[in-house]
Amino acid sequence: MGINCFLFLPLLFILVLNFFLDIATAQVAGFVSLDCGGQSNFTDNLGLEWTPDNQIVYGITSNISVTNETRQQYQTVRYFPADNRKYCYTINVKSRTRYLLRTTFLYGNFDNNNVYPKFDISMGPTRWATIVISDANTIESQELIFLASGSTVSVCLSNATTGQPFISTLELRPFNGSIYLTPYENQYFLSVSARINFGAENEDPVRYPDDPFDRIWQSDMLKKANYLVDVATGTDRVSTKLPIDIGKDEQPPQKVMQTAVVGRNGNLTYRMNLDGFPAFGWAYTYFAEIEDLAANETRKFRLILPGMPEISKAVVNIQENAQGTHRLYEPGFENISLPFVLSFRFGKTSDSTQGPLVNAIEINKYLKIDDGSFDGDVAASLVSSYESYDWAKEGGDPCLPVAWSWLVCNTDREPKIISVKLSGMNLTGPIPSDLTKLTSLEQLWLDGNALTGPIPDFTGCPNLKIIHLENNQLSGNIPSSLAELPNLSQLYLQNNLLTGDVPTSLLNKNLVLNYTGNANLRKGGSEGGHYRKIIIGLTVGAVALFLGFITSCILLRQRKKYPKTELKHRMPVMSNAATEAAQSFTLSELRYATKNFEKKVGSGGFGTVYYGKLNDGKEIAVKLLENNNVYQGKKEFANEVTLLSRIHHRNLVQFLGFCQEEGMDILVYEFMHNGTLKEHLYGPMARERGINWIKRLEIAEESAKGIEYLHTGCVPSIIHRDLKTSNILLDKNMKAKVSDFGLSKLAVDGTSHVSSIVRGTLGYLDPEYYISNRLTDKSDIYSFGVILLELISGQEAISNVNFGINCRNIVQWAKMHIESGDIQGIIDPVLGNEYDIQSMWKIAEKALMCVQPHGNMRPSMSEVIKEIQDAILIERGVQAAARERSSDELSRHSTLNMGSLDLCANDQDLMIDESFSRPGPR
Ligand SMILES: *[C@@H]1O[C@H](CO)[C@@H](O)[C@H](O)[C@H]1NC(C)=O
Ligand SMILES: *[C@@H]1O[C@H](CO)[C@@H](O)[C@H](O)[C@H]1NC(C)=O
Repeated sequence: MGINCFLFLPLLFILVLNFFLDIATAQVAGFVSLDCGGQSNFTDNLGLEWTPDNQIVYGITSNISVTNETRQQYQTVRYFPADNRKYCYTINVKSRTRYLLRTTFLYGNFDNNNVYPKFDISMGPTRWATIVISDANTIESQELIFLASGSTVSVCLSNATTGQPFISTLELRPFNGSIYLTPYENQYFLSVSARINFGAENEDPVRYPDDPFDRIWQSDMLKKANYLVDVATGTDRVSTKLPIDIGKDEQPPQKVMQTAVVGRNGNLTYRMNLDGFPAFGWAYTYFAEIEDLAANETRKFRLILPGMPEISKAVVNIQENAQGTHRLYEPGFENISLPFVLSFRFGKTSDSTQGPLVNAIEINKYLKIDDGSFDGDVAASLVSSYESYDWAKEGGDPCLPVAWSWLVCNTDREPKIISVKLSGMNLTGPIPSDLTKLTSLEQLWLDGNALTGPIPDFTGCPNLKIIHLENNQLSGNIPSSLAELPNLSQLYLQNNLLTGDVPTSLLNKNLVLNYTGNANLRKGGSEGGHYRKIIIGLTVGAVALFLGFITSCILLRQRKKYPKTELKHRMPVMSNAATEAAQSFTLSELRYATKNFEKKVGSGGFGTVYYGKLNDGKEIAVKLLENNNVYQGKKEFANEVTLLSRIHHRNLVQFLGFCQEEGMDILVYEFMHNGTLKEHLYGPMARERGINWIKRLEIAEESAKGIEYLHTGCVPSIIHRDLKTSNILLDKNMKAKVSDFGLSKLAVDGTSHVSSIVRGTLGYLDPEYYISNRLTDKSDIYSFGVILLELISGQEAISNVNFGINCRNIVQWAKMHIESGDIQGIIDPVLGNEYDIQSMWKIAEKALMCVQPHGNMRPSMSEVIKEIQDAILIERGVQAAARERSSDELSRHSTLNMGSLDLCANDQDLMIDESFSRPGPR
């Protein structure tokens, strides 16, 4: 790959060499490491290849010397005049690729002035940061994560308020995954604020080669002002040498995940300043259980941010969320408002035996991308035809943050070019037609070049006041259209090769006009060669003409605007962005895996599911979504799918990826070998190998945990909306996982279900939601109550025959029996006598609570879980007792010591430990 590095001094002084370096052989996969002010290539001791910017003979290089900084790239700087220009590096990038961009600045008193510089850096038109040097020996650094939308990016220095702008290094690192994908990435950069490695071994950051993307994971031991202060007592540093399963993508490197801090007293607290905040930001935490917890130990905790109680609803249980130890779990906030001074705390829940643990965090600020100049495209096209000219290489946006040296722009939010001054620039060839597209142009200076050909039609620039075309080799007639420019007041055409008559309309116009020195030009009667001034009053005709132009100018501007905005919308959106997010599968890959959708393993409200096997042997379930048209625009689909891929819980079916081709929307999930709970409760399979009561309870507990996670573990919480036995799937080991979560959000309208607004499945549908159309997590509780009744009875939710006359609904039927004390009347005959009546009653009563007509009377998922767990304890107690006393004559009911079980235990799961609501040690 080649890089192009441009920097400019005022044109008079400079001679620019455009340089292309072939660094493909030398560099780590697309890394660009520019040693600004350096003289030669070198490889540093991390293995990074540095390239000097010394092919640029402008800007001034200086050697510096800073104690304790031996790295070669910090022995030099490149600096620029403190004028009102911008100085840009333009670097080739791969379009549609996400990059990390890092600039660093080590002053080192390069100018022997001891004046600490202060200046701005920008990324294209977007103001990125103000660099404030406050110490000659400290490296200032700025990082940005962006999605390249074109083939180059420009980093510019400008607006020095003190000292001279300078730069030490410029580094570009491509990403190849999606963790930095956000729904906003076409409008916002991510400006890196904090990337912290907790429990670090020493003060050194972790970076390349430990991090293949060369992110700098700052040590939590680093000493700097307002950085990780207010640490709670009892904070311990822990580490492991065992490998950490960090998955693919750009997850934090293993070395970062192998260390952590643990709050032995139940709390981890920190305070730090967040550069650039308050703002909306992207904040992620990275956890991996690296301590060996005994079987009876738990580590559950919450994040607590002052004034943000919502945040504390989610409980982290690393092992459970990550599905094991030494595995990464990375919950976070895609968009959260954070203050400049951030205090945060992780606090253990009251039922957790261990304090919180955190391995790493990352906080980025959303930086709005500036749309750039109104005339950006035209200007880009103009300079592209003069690639070898210095003035065409200034780089960045024509007007922002400051204009190219030969342009003047107005101060609109999307600035427009109002003056072009290219006098004496050795221009040849015709007058560039792009100039006639600058709709707000007022002054055009092209004098003193070697331009040839005719004068073009400038009616596209109705604001033109002053035109300098003198001292060129222009030929042809003077176009009469020039007279149609309503504001034209000065027109200089002398010393060209123009021919024909000077149009009388021009001669009759109120303007300064000079056309001397055109040997073959006839001047319409009056003697030529002299400066002419013709002043006429405004006539009715002129007014009409003027109005005519105003109109055409408005039309013209509108037309101009369209292609531009269209382009911007089209470019970024979906195809790449989404495919990067969740893994994307190609249709042919899925056709192959499913043998062209041969084996149908299920169908449901959202589509048909096929069995598949990937090349690596992994079995998958491929869901072809029905009714393509009901899914929102591609972009929304992609965003939703991205969100889906970020929900992980051991009791939720794992989402693997998606495919959107040939008008088909396809989702790919892990394959669940034992099918749906529904199949196990009814039908042929149930008869052969029906599941016993304790297994049913375990399935209930597992699926309830999955649902609880959707309700409380996600912010914002997710309501499933379509819970039913066919959405509870069983894996190889008969562990239950909930499927189809998050899907109802995808559908806009008119799916196969109930009505166009209320969604769900008949028999499971919360009547309150049905009537009020107000959806809450209590609607899921209702559906889960129905599932519990099915587990007890082995009856389907709706039946025309099984519930007697006038009753088609399991809820009515079960309620009638249970309330009259006849629980035996509803118990699945398949269960025989293999259950304890106490546990059966517990579940039956809870199920009735769940199907209460009003949501506020129904329990929360965690209460339901507690009840199921109690029922399981009863069953296990019974089983154990049965084993112990297998020879005993006693009936199992009398062996059970009910007193040892607190049947009405308060659920403390959802209450924050008292100690968290008190201010922590500061
Ligand atoms: C983040 O959320 C806020 C408030 O809901 C919203 O105004 C903003 O546009 C969102 N996105 C970004 C990138 O700030
Ligand atoms: C124009 O060309 C002449 C002759 O080659 C050269 O001396 C002069 O520096 C050039 N001017 C600019 C602005 O490039």
